[in-house]
Amino acid sequence: MQKQNELESRERILVTGGCGFIGTNYIHKQLIHSFRSVINLDKCTYAANPQNLAGCTDVERYTLVQGDICDRELLDYLLQTHRPSAIIHFAAESHVDRSITGPKAFVDTNILGTFQLLQAARDYWSKLTAPGREDFRFLHVSTDEVFGSLGQDERGFHEKTPYSPNSPYSASKAASDHMVRAYQQTYGLPTLTTNCSNNHGPFQFPEKLIPLVIRRAINGESLPIYGDGMNIRDWLFVGDHCSAIDSVLANGVPGETYNIGGNSERTNRQVVQTLCTLLDELAPTTSGRSYSEQITFVKDRPGHDRRYAVDASKILRELGWQPSCTFEQGMRRTVNWYLQNNAWLESIASGDYLNWIASNYEQRCSQ
Ligand code: NAD
Ligand code: DAU
Repeated sequence: MQKQNELESRERILVTGGCGFIGTNYIHKQLIHSFRSVINLDKCTYAANPQNLAGCTDVERYTLVQGDICDRELLDYLLQTHRPSAIIHFAAESHVDRSITGPKAFVDTNILGTFQLLQAARDYWSKLTAPGREDFRFLHVSTDEVFGSLGQDERGFHEKTPYSPNSPYSASKAASDHMVRAYQQTYGLPTLTTNCSNNHGPFQFPEKLIPLVIRRAINGESLPIYGDGMNIRDWLFVGDHCSAIDSVLANGVPGETYNIGGNSERTNRQVVQTLCTLLDELAPTTSGRSYSEQITFVKDRPGHDRRYAVDASKILRELGWQPSCTFEQGMRRTVNWYLQNNAWLESIASGDYLNWIASNYEQRCSQ
């Protein structure tokens, strides 16, 4: 154990997009449960909240750099100065609805930004000497959405499922996955790619279904479900995604991809109903009415994928990873966190967020 701690204390990792939802949870985990140093490169877009990591700013092992993964000079400088043993690449534009109304930012960050990061990583890695060269890893965090939409009875996405992205977001992530693969195949860069299902948990920006519904429910607003609400997603608690990433980083085979999922398929109706039931128990309305009375059905998302499901048997078989909690246990933790951190929710629900909600939901509700 002490040897492990000593090894980790010499390890520095470069995390991109660490002020977003999953990156924040991942960095907290590193600072609390490991001895690694973390350099967090984040552009601080609307989706970022550096305050998430405010408690870490006086931790010597944490450095926040506000910058863009498209900035090659900055990437070279950071790699030369900090000499990380791994890059964990979370930075992305991540909201499907925004990719429909404004796809360019998705091409810029998800495709061109990943390309710049790969170029910089390749240059840095090729000049490393043993044993650093053998140990270096580039871990690319991707999504199950690259595989497209499943029929009702089809097997869940596995690592050999052909790519079939349907939104500008998933197409841009698919392009980045292909570039990562090409850098491993062509230049030998030791890459790892993870494709994970829908996450929920602390610090998620409230444009995404779960925090959006919790926030609107407690504010007495309508709970908008797109279309008929029968679209299916596979849900995973964010802490379990972070532990899967650590398993892949520690023991994954360079060049391999790993699908990560919660084995928890639910329709959107079921998800929203679960949230309402938990809220009825944990924060009952003053009128005594159920939150489910606030549910409304609104215009569907264009190109809305019907069903995602993940076959996560490879990561279990090869790396021994599996989720630590069930959907119900995870959702209870998530709802409790938002109820206890209402100030966090409200503090970021301003500016760009309010403009987005007005334009996205006005258009959906006018149908
Ligand atoms: P998020 O939108 O909450 O956070 C993204 C972060 O990236 C933000 O802090 C933002 O400022 C930063 N960023 C954006 N553009 C940047 C740029 N050009 N340079 C540097 N930083 C930039 O996203 P998230 O939900 O935390 O997702 C993180 C990653 O995980 C993404 O790559 C996403 O595709 C993937 N993923 C997400 C989920 C999910 O359910 N949220 C599931 C599977 C995979
Ligand atoms: O599958 C992994 C992906 O999960 C990640 O790659 C994405 O970054 C992440 O945003 C998420 O994508 P989704 O589109 O599945 O997540 P979102 O929370 O936007 O929507 C979940 C489902 O709920 C989806 O079927 C659309 C629906 N929805 C969403 C919103 C915001 C509604 O019915 N009403 C809403 O208001």
